[in-house]
Amino acid sequence: MKKIVVLISGSGSNLQAIIDKCKSKYIHAEIGCVISNNPEAYGLERAKSAGIKTLVIDHKEYQSRDLFDNDLYKVLKDQNADLIVLAGFMRILTEKITKNFYGKIINIHPSLLPKYPGLNTHQQVIDNKDMTHGITIHYVSSELDGGPIIAQGEVMTSEDDDIDNLIERIHTLEHELYPEIIKYICDNQINIYSNEVIFKNLSIKGTHIYKKYDI
Ligand code: GRF
Repeated sequence: MKKIVVLISGSGSNLQAIIDKCKSKYIHAEIGCVISNNPEAYGLERAKSAGIKTLVIDHKEYQSRDLFDNDLYKVLKDQNADLIVLAGFMRILTEKITKNFYGKIINIHPSLLPKYPGLNTHQQVIDNKDMTHGITIHYVSSELDGGPIIAQGEVMTSEDDDIDNLIERIHTLEHELYPEIIKYICDNQINIYSNEVIFKNLSIKGTHIYKKYDI
């Protein structure tokens, strides 16, 4: 059984999807710990309700990003997880984390990278009248939202989409695709070797998993 650690900052709806899929044994792993940089994160309640250990490392108590990451590093090292999952973790990580845990940390980003790294992706899609929107799941590297891509999920936008509706649709997509990818990683069907994502027993067209959703 693999061990996962999940890092959150907020609502934790992705965390919930992962908890549910671990519970139903769709993902062959257990969540050893949920870590939040925000003591108010609702995801902490979700973890506690599921009987999962929680830890808060409040970034506001640190004078620098380096000091915060030093403590986060110690906790992650202690946890010795097979996979570290960023699920709405709103902190930029320094090389102390990204280099030492390279290949073991994944992130979900709400855009079709390389389009719209950073924040406010949904608003940019609306402002630019994009025909499609989506999500990217990638290994974390030192480049913000720039690590090797594992999977992308795409939805068509519609003229009726307002920001709330678009966020809801993207969340629905995230809750399907993120657990699926975590399952594959835990089953050793996805790996990374020298910056290249390797897929085993999965039919991939192109360099990564690309799925279109009717959501
Ligand atoms: C998700 O949209 C994720 O893509 C982004 O932050 C959001 C977190 O949502 N990185 P939640 O906390 O999982 O509900």
